[in-house]
Order: sequence, then C-alpha cells, then structure tokens
Amino acid sequence: MKLNQIIKSVFATTALLSSAAAVHAAEVEVLHYWTSGGEAKSVAELKKIMEAKGVTWKDFAVAGGAGENATTALKARVIAGSPPTAAQIKGPSIQEWGQEGVLANIDAAATAGKWDSLLPKVVSNTMKYQGHYVAAPVNVHRVNWLWINPEVLKKAGAKVPTTWPEFFDAADKIQKAGFIAVAQGGQPWQDATVFETVALGVGGADFYNKALVKLDPATLTGPTMVKTFDTLGKIKGYIDKDAPGRDWNLATAMVINGKAGMQFMGDWAKGEFTAAGKQPGKDFLCAPAPGTAKSYTYNIDSIAMFKVKNPDSQKAQLTLATAIMSPEFQEVFNLNKGSIPVRPDIPRTKFDSCAIESMDDMAASSKAGTLEPSMAHGMAVSSAVQGAMFDVVSKFMHSNMTSQAAVQALAKAAKTQ
Ligand code: BGC
Repeated sequence: MKLNQIIKSVFATTALLSSAAAVHAAEVEVLHYWTSGGEAKSVAELKKIMEAKGVTWKDFAVAGGAGENATTALKARVIAGSPPTAAQIKGPSIQEWGQEGVLANIDAAATAGKWDSLLPKVVSNTMKYQGHYVAAPVNVHRVNWLWINPEVLKKAGAKVPTTWPEFFDAADKIQKAGFIAVAQGGQPWQDATVFETVALGVGGADFYNKALVKLDPATLTGPTMVKTFDTLGKIKGYIDKDAPGRDWNLATAMVINGKAGMQFMGDWAKGEFTAAGKQPGKDFLCAPAPGTAKSYTYNIDSIAMFKVKNPDSQKAQLTLATAIMSPEFQEVFNLNKGSIPVRPDIPRTKFDSCAIESMDDMAASSKAGTLEPSMAHGMAVSSAVQGAMFDVVSKFMHSNMTSQAAVQALAKAAKTQ
C-alpha cells in the first residue's frame, strides 16, 4: 500500500478519536521546524499570543532546516493516528495533505477576518483546499538574496556584486584576502536554494518559470540550464571543505562573525543577524543575488490545521488561525523572522531596509510578471518532483557530474510522479 493510502485508512479509523483524546481543551500542539536563534524567537511570539488568549501551547519542534525532518515526523504521527492540531506545511504540500482528507476547515476564522479581501489571490488560493481555507499564512520570505559581511568585502577590496562576473570577481578577492568566499551548508535543500537562485540570475524569471514551475523538458535541458549548472559548478570552488553536514544558520554565523564573505539564502538568514544584534547596512548587507534585482522568488510559510473531533480543540484552531493573521502577530513575528507580513496593510515603520526592499521588490515584480514561487522551498512543484530535483542538484554539488548530465537528470526528475 502506498503511503498516502496507508494514511487514509489509518486516519479514517483512529485519528479522530486519538487526536481528540491526546489534546486537552484549549490546547494546540503545533509541529514546526523553527529552531534556530531567529526562528525560535519568532515562534515564541506566537506562543505568547496564544497563551494570552488562554490557549496552552504544546510545542512540537523538529530541528532541521526547510522542514525535511518535520515532514517525516508529521507523516509518522498521521500514520499513528494522532496528528498534531496544527503543522507548518506550505505550498502544493497543502493540497497533498488535503487529498488525504486530514485537514480541517477553518473558513469560520477566514470569513470573520475577511481573509479573501485582505490576501493576495496567489496566497489565499494556496491556503485553500477545494475552495475552503485549511491553513493560515504567516509571512512572505524572499529567497533570492545574497547576505554579505561588509567588513570582509572592504578588507578584500571587493564591491557588492550585481552580475555573475562581478560575483566571481568579488569571490576571488575575498578568497585571496584569506576568507571563505561563500558560506554554504550541507543539506540538499541548501544546495537547491543556491541552484534556483543561480537559475533565476542566469536565465531570468521567464526561464525560471518554464524550467522550475512548468517543468518544460526543452527548457530543462536547454543551453540556459547548462549555463546555470556551469555557474553553480564554479561557485563550488568558493565553498570550504567543511560545508557537508553544516546547518544553514551555522553558515550564516560564518558571515556574521567575519569568517566568510557571502551566503546565498532566503531572508530567514536575516533573523539570525537580527538575533545577534546586527544592523542591516552597517554590520551586514542584503542584496538581491546577482542578476535577480528585478525578480523575486517567494516562499510563504503557513500553518495548516488537522481534523480534530473535540469542539474545544476546534475552537483553539480557529483562535490560532485568527492569531496568525492578526496585525499584532504579523508585525512582531516578521520583525524577528526576517520575512515580511503577508497582509499588505501592516505599517512599515518598524521594518528595516532589507524588509522594505523586499516589500517594494515583491510589488514591482508582481506587476512586471517576475514574481516566482520557490522550488527549493516547496512553493512550485509537488514534493515528489522537488525531492527528485534535490537529489540531482545535490549529486552535482558533491561529485564531478557534468552540466550536460545534470540537465538530463533534472528533466528526468521533473517527470517523477
Ligand atoms: C522556511 C523558513 C525557515 C527555513 C529554514 C524555509 O523553508 O520557509 O521558515 O526558516 O526554511 O529552516
């Protein structure tokens, strides 16, 4: 039996009973993977808000960037018949879980909060399964950023790169000055984050969309994708030998403490700089990755609710959903997390220059048609295709696979069912 069938049959018989029994009245058990310094500070704000509303927060944190471990833990809990009340899942995965019949309808919170009129369509559609809200959106992260230590840049005599030739020039100078040029970690999702950013920078938003959203075979195997892998291959030469196994936040720490010059990462990295008391423009710089200033890869975090039988638990879910969309939460969480509010009506006053740039660039790219879902962060393709693409990129990063072989493997990965 396939996993989804197992989930269906087990859930149908036991989940409603056991999850209702496991969770006490006015308690939410929330599965998430926000465990780094900046992430933990952010999620603590949600806990605070919920507890002020009289709801007990049962933390179900599973460490591991981008949620790979959390997804495994979630599957295990659903198969065991005791899903958590809520879990951090996003993008097309929400539809996949919806198809299993395990997600709860939270239309009551959405209608009362006027979510349909508040949220951009691209967001509200993702939060719905078969026309009903099943998840609450938390934020918008921009993925195509380059994080820079300005002190390292200055010592190396380099400037902030805006093109790929400028990037490699800066990387050479940083390396010559005795620093690690590119801070990179070891999990496949981190390699995929760099890969999609390079694809956007090398080929532009149309190319990105055809290749990594529409999965067009000719684009996936064409010369621009070959050039993408050539560029990615060149970046490998600027990563230190200890990268395998390194967590993303430890790579960010290398930029924070001046061991490394640059890191390709979404703006959850800013949460680490902020948690370390660093100021943008002074202690660190955020710049759109080379060639990507006019486009924007988005990654929207959301909390999906699982079916529970106990009316108190159902009420607590609506309280959680309402809290997530509240202006109070949207501001404080995103100030800590590095992302921007998903509601466009939150005052900008407290947000820093990187966040303001993200807000402006998101609006501009949405108008220009260059706003694209992140493949590496579960926004663009099914989890099966994403996993197969991760394998290809990771193999390319950690072997001497050629760009030609990589594009063929990528096109094959795109066909994964
Ligand atoms: C999530 C972020 C998280 C990051 C690192 C991304 O996929 O959207 O919320 O901070 O992974 O774990």
